[in-house]
Amino acid sequence: MNLVLLGPPGAGKGTQAAVLSQRLKIYHISTGDILRQNVKAGNAIGRKAMEYMEKGKLVPDEIVIQMVKEAINAKSSLSGFILDGFPRTLKQARQLDELLSGLNKNLDLVIDFKTTNSVIIKRLSGRRICRNCGANYHIKNIPPRIDGVCDKCGRNLYQRNDDKPQTVIRRIDLYRKSVTLLLDYYRKKAILEIVSGDLEVEPLYKVLIDVFKKRSLLQGYKIKK
Ligand code: AP5
Repeated sequence: MNLVLLGPPGAGKGTQAAVLSQRLKIYHISTGDILRQNVKAGNAIGRKAMEYMEKGKLVPDEIVIQMVKEAINAKSSLSGFILDGFPRTLKQARQLDELLSGLNKNLDLVIDFKTTNSVIIKRLSGRRICRNCGANYHIKNIPPRIDGVCDKCGRNLYQRNDDKPQTVIRRIDLYRKSVTLLLDYYRKKAILEIVSGDLEVEPLYKVLIDVFKKRSLLQGYKIKK
């Protein structure tokens, strides 16, 4: 099953993609995570990307498209992927179609996590990320066992630079302006489903499993509860 998760910042795309990836054994590709790895490595892509990310702007299509090509090609033999945070522009959506058709693959489903601004603000102000392994927490909703310390690897948690209130507002605004074209694009292909991103993690997972069942996408997958 090849999926795209759309949704505003803080909609829970990354969190839900990690859950689906772990329970259904599908490969999770997050363009935001790959960009942050490049920023951490301090390489040329990371330095360029940081200029845009810190301001809450989109990183140029060319950079992101190339990253996704490499990620999908590297794991093209796996049983499926979840793209989280890609595509964000029509150009990216069309290039994804081209890439998949070259690999004899299809996009099965695009899920839009429709999420209200008040939920987004609460989630992003409390989000904490592990500096080492990238695990994602929330100080109230999904707290680590020890305050400020990653459950998985024991390293420190930090707050993302682009989770500052002013940048969050810019990111939400940009998302709301750009998503309409993408929704129309996928609605015409009849592969779009809209779910509520306001739901908690487990109820949302159940809604997604129901959507997959309705679309007959679960053949060959073992569902872990
Ligand atoms: P990216 O990292 O993709 O950020 P985003 O799309 O803005 O999404 P977020 O990571 O902020 O939110 P999320 O929906 O994954 O929420 P999460 O699960 O973390 O991109 C960052 C930047 O990179 C962009 O601004 C851009 O500059 C650049 N970029 C990336 N892709 C690009 C592209 N394709 N083209 C161009 N530029 C690109 O959850 C948020 C918090 O809420 C967490 O604390 C979590 O624990 C908690 N939480 C999650 N789900 C729930 C739930 N259901 N209930 C309660 N709490 C929850």
